Amino acid sequence: MADLFDHVPSPQAPRVLAPGAWLLPGAALEQAPALFRLIGEIAAAAPFRHMRTPGGGQMSVAMTGCGDRSWVTDGKGYRYSPTDPQTGAPWPSLPHLFHDVASRAAAEAGFAGFTPDSCLINRYAPGIRMGLHQDRDERDFTQPIVSISLGLPAMFLFGGPRRADPVQRIGLNHGDILVWGGPARLFHHGIGPVRDGEHPLTGPFRFNLTLRRAC
Ligand code: SIN
Ligand code: FE2
Repeated sequence: MADLFDHVPSPQAPRVLAPGAWLLPGAALEQAPALFRLIGEIAAAAPFRHMRTPGGGQMSVAMTGCGDRSWVTDGKGYRYSPTDPQTGAPWPSLPHLFHDVASRAAAEAGFAGFTPDSCLINRYAPGIRMGLHQDRDERDFTQPIVSISLGLPAMFLFGGPRRADPVQRIGLNHGDILVWGGPARLFHHGIGPVRDGEHPLTGPFRFNLTLRRAC
């Protein structure tokens, strides 16, 4: 059985998943320790929490965010909020490094000039998954989504424009970046249950940064 951390610690060739969708393996490996430190600083001001869903449930993925606004969910629905509902304060600002890593990855995938104004930060404990969904609360669908994976590996489920479309399963490792935009911008996606493990940088968690242009 392949070891979960048996991952070559250097960037590998980009892989196209669908028109407009790219996997950039290891593209954030070099910046990963600095990205992880910044997550800690953001979480000190805007703690990870399990948000309420409109249906009355609770997100199993722990979330926080940063930027001009960040994605939230509660009994009233899904939206971008300029303030953290938990503290009433503006979200921590988007670190330059988040912006730069995302903008460079987007350019590599053919989306030059991507300037994110929002980052949702997801934290997965072992056993936690994210069901298939579309990212559709942003204003401008010409802007891509850039997703950076840190820590424990996970299985990315990548479908199509319709919920019932076939799903590709793509293994995501520490330092991998995904970009989807253009014809793939509204493709359904999710994360399979994270397996038990311990990562040298992030401990028993997977973290994911999704950089978006919300407004
Ligand atoms: C998301 O779709 O918001 C998260 C994807 C991921 O955790 O990789
Ligand atoms: Fe998403």
